Amino acid sequence: MTTSNGQYIAAIDQGTTSSRCIVFGADGRIVAVDQQEHSQIFPQPGWVEHDAEEIWTRVQSVISGALAKAGLTRDDIRAIGITNQRETTVLWDKNTGKPVHNALVWQDTRTEDLCKELGRNVGQDRFRRETGLPLASYFAGPKIRWLLDNVEGLRERAERGDILFGTMDTWVIWNLTGGVDGGKHVTDVTNASRTMLMNLHTLEWDDKIAESMDVPMSVLPEIRSSAEVYGEAVGELAGVPVASALGDQQAALFGQTCFDVGEAKSTYGTGTFLLLNTGEKVVNSYHGLLTTVGYRIGDQAPVYALEGSIAVTGSLVQWLRDQLGIISTAAEIETLASTVADNGGAYIVPAFSGLFAPYWRSDARGVITGLTRYVTKGHLARAVLEATAWQTREVVDAMEKDSGVTLSALKVDGGMTSNNLLMQNIADVLDVPVERPFVAETTALGAAYAAGLAVGFWPDVDTLRANWHRAAEWTPRMDEETRESEYKNWLKAVERTMGWIE
Ligand code: G3P
Repeated sequence: MTTSNGQYIAAIDQGTTSSRCIVFGADGRIVAVDQQEHSQIFPQPGWVEHDAEEIWTRVQSVISGALAKAGLTRDDIRAIGITNQRETTVLWDKNTGKPVHNALVWQDTRTEDLCKELGRNVGQDRFRRETGLPLASYFAGPKIRWLLDNVEGLRERAERGDILFGTMDTWVIWNLTGGVDGGKHVTDVTNASRTMLMNLHTLEWDDKIAESMDVPMSVLPEIRSSAEVYGEAVGELAGVPVASALGDQQAALFGQTCFDVGEAKSTYGTGTFLLLNTGEKVVNSYHGLLTTVGYRIGDQAPVYALEGSIAVTGSLVQWLRDQLGIISTAAEIETLASTVADNGGAYIVPAFSGLFAPYWRSDARGVITGLTRYVTKGHLARAVLEATAWQTREVVDAMEKDSGVTLSALKVDGGMTSNNLLMQNIADVLDVPVERPFVAETTALGAAYAAGLAVGFWPDVDTLRANWHRAAEWTPRMDEETRESEYKNWLKAVERTMGWIE
């Protein structure tokens, strides 16, 4: 039976590098957090995989960990919200619950040729009108097709109805609600909007697109709203309603309480994702942004967003740490970058997965340019941070052109916002103040908010808005001449990344 008097909401944030469970109180403050990383599997250059079973084990373990840290039991938890890395694709056998292959991660570029093929003679925007997305290896639909074409016997099994597809929300909810014993095979509109298989206007799977992509409809989950009860959990949280799902970037928009048209947030994690609420209107992009669903609460009208997706920001810092060994912890980047006054003429464009917004160039690969014998590792550290700032500037410029909205401030969140130098740099290159809320875990908070609304734990969005408090602000200090000449150099460096892959 569902518990109805719990005083807390548990949010599960299944991210690219780790899974977390965060327990929130009614004031939106964090009560306990548990977090575990999972393996990043790189079978070939450009390929990135996750072991979905490992992820599910980590999710279970962080649920236990967070409850233990908070000294709570399932009776204290009113509802569970789910948020997740988007687009990452897993297919599994519904009879055994076993994935048929490692999950293909959103950063994986193996479907590049397939996307080119799908766009042949018609171009990259073949499905943009229906889905809001350009043909790019980022999205889930082509990843499903790749798996069906490359795992032996899989297509026949899928056509027999034995195979289920999910992004990580779907995989977690199916397992959490019982798995082979009646697990719910559902996704929400925000995650579905990243598959390139959902029609943005009807919020249903588009059978024509599925057919052109050769994806059988039988593998697709049911599309539901972002805030409603999908089912009840089994296991440690047995009986607790699973009451929300949102892709992590949309969850952050929700957690930042960007409920009004024109409100925007930028989340600095593995990648960076800037979303602008455009209300009930589907705004088409002509400047390289994505049109996506922001959220949908129950049977209310959906709220749409424009998104600027940047593939590599925090993961560039990880690369410096793990692959080059220039720093030993991510936090050290700030100390190292502070040893110099500027970038010494060096620019790093981290096109590891091609370039996402506003270019969508799968043929791009990363460059370090402007090198002279003068450049030190301090300059490189600075160029790493500046890469995040300039990429933000590019998507903000595109967003202003597409929406006509001029940003007056930028709400930020995510792990990289603890880096003061970077936040200052972003305020400088955008020439607007940058603000961080008191609860910086806005992704998990957004999932908690949506779940809480679904079960009546919070009455309405105005109550949530009242929980938003500014904890830090950075105001612009750079003069215009420097800003614009540095930006020119950055754009020159970006040009050098393109066309590297034939
Ligand atoms: O679209 C990819 C995005 O959802 C990944 O977010 O925070 O796990 O890097 P994150």
